[in-house]
Amino acid sequence: MRPSMLCSLLIFFLVLQTSLSASPIIEKACGKIAKGYVGYKFCVQALEADPKSGSANIRGLASISVKLSIANATSTVSKIRELLKKASDPTIKNSLQACSYLYTNAKASLKWSEHFIASKNFTAAKAEIHAAVFVGTFCEEAFTASPLTKENDNFGKLTLLATAIINSLA
Ligand SMILES: *[C@@H]1O[C@H](CO)[C@@H](O)[C@H](O)[C@H]1NC(C)=O
Ligand SMILES: *[C@@H]1O[C@H](CO)[C@@H](O)[C@H](O)[C@H]1NC(C)=O
Repeated sequence: MRPSMLCSLLIFFLVLQTSLSASPIIEKACGKIAKGYVGYKFCVQALEADPKSGSANIRGLASISVKLSIANATSTVSKIRELLKKASDPTIKNSLQACSYLYTNAKASLKWSEHFIASKNFTAAKAEIHAAVFVGTFCEEAFTASPLTKENDNFGKLTLLATAIINSLA
């Protein structure tokens, strides 16, 4: 066996191992929650990004999913800023500014949601997430050829995951 092949095999097993070692809490929650929303795999991968997920209850997972959405909105806003620096086409600039506005508002709603989760007001928490769920779609539709498809899609899924978790609480 060639060393490079051995190396890929090793990597394969390492990856397999990591993907098999999701915590039982995450597995159970995602098995129950993710159906019809974002799918089991996305759910597990997203929640695993925060090491606290492994020992969280459902309310903790709700809060984590909202925090992940906020972090994602923040990184998307920075990406939009970078794109704005390079953009010269006024139409594209307008669209980027619209997205920046959408994501900034979404962040504010999600911060409120976090606050409401902490005070166990899940109805209000859900309403705030709902305000963010379509931001990815709206941003995507602002372009004829979107430079933010991956970000919009990911943010849409993260906020849907947060919705799914909140729904299981409220
Ligand atoms: C939840 O928050 C909303 C919005 O602030 C408020 O109108 C509602 O009374 C709160 N519900 C509970 C049960 O505290
Ligand atoms: C946010 O989204 C990007 C893709 O747009 C992804 O690469 C990144 O991992 C996400 N961050 C978080 C915290 O989920």
